[in-house]
Amino acid sequence: MRPKYFLYIFALQLISPASSVPLTSAQNGTPTGTRLFPGDSFISTLIGNHVPSFATSIPLSGVSAETQKNLSLFRTATLTLNKSHLTDFLDNSRGFLYPVFERKRCQLGKDTDRVVPFYTSNALGAYFENIFHMIPAWTNNEISLSRFDLFHGHLFANPITKAVGVVFHSKEYPAQNDDTFPFNLGFCQINSDTVFSERTMRKRNLIWVIDAADRTSLWWIDMAIQTGNSAIDSILGGEPFYTLYESNFGHVIADFYFLKNLELGASLY
Ligand SMILES: *[C@@H]1O[C@H](CO)[C@@H](O)[C@H](O)[C@H]1NC(C)=O
Ligand SMILES: *[C@@H]1O[C@H](CO)[C@@H](O)[C@H](O)[C@H]1NC(C)=O
Repeated sequence: MRPKYFLYIFALQLISPASSVPLTSAQNGTPTGTRLFPGDSFISTLIGNHVPSFATSIPLSGVSAETQKNLSLFRTATLTLNKSHLTDFLDNSRGFLYPVFERKRCQLGKDTDRVVPFYTSNALGAYFENIFHMIPAWTNNEISLSRFDLFHGHLFANPITKAVGVVFHSKEYPAQNDDTFPFNLGFCQINSDTVFSERTMRKRNLIWVIDAADRTSLWWIDMAIQTGNSAIDSILGGEPFYTLYESNFGHVIADFYFLKNLELGASLY
């Protein structure tokens, strides 16, 4: 859930046999050196032609041709894994401090002392802010925008499918409860008004994806579903936290942070 934990998971993946599958030219169109990720099938399924049993499609509003073009450029830049290509989209001169809470003992992100907004000219900040804003309505208010619930997403690049996506984590700090959620998640959990329930926790993750053809989609994932396909089921599950790990889906490139009344800020890895 917390950044250190992500790093730990990431480190585990680097040494785990499952993620070090030897690369062969038999991989259709896969350039040599492209890593295979445990969630490759998961992503292929989301962007494929069949409705996945583990996800609900959420309709995205249409965007202007210019924004669509900029999303496409952003996808390509993200796939290069070269930070300097991404910084072209970010307005470094407007970097800002993300709020801290509980007498500075609660920091919501990996380095919220400085996050960087998109250039307003490319419209991408507004695009992703709109997704954050719409998630509560789209999920019948099962998810709300708050520092205990939805306030961040993780940008990943999946080399096999050439898709780029954002994993949105909601229910980040449910209130501690002796009976239903007896977990101490640290300072950011203090005063949480997010009530744990199994029903909402299993659906705490959403994924926005832009595929190789620049088609965008947004998915509300049900982590408690089992599909019978082990490549997908290994990504699901994980009660009671039900965290969908972005590092399963590709190279993790940046975090997006968003709270009401603030601009969306990005923090590159
Ligand atoms: C990253 O991109 C910049 C700008 O295009 C380029 O100068 C640099 O060599 C690239 N770095 C790598 C490691 O490819
Ligand atoms: C797309 O990005 C370019 C370069 O940043 C910018 O000039 C253009 O205005 C952007 N389009 C939109 C719709 O913001």
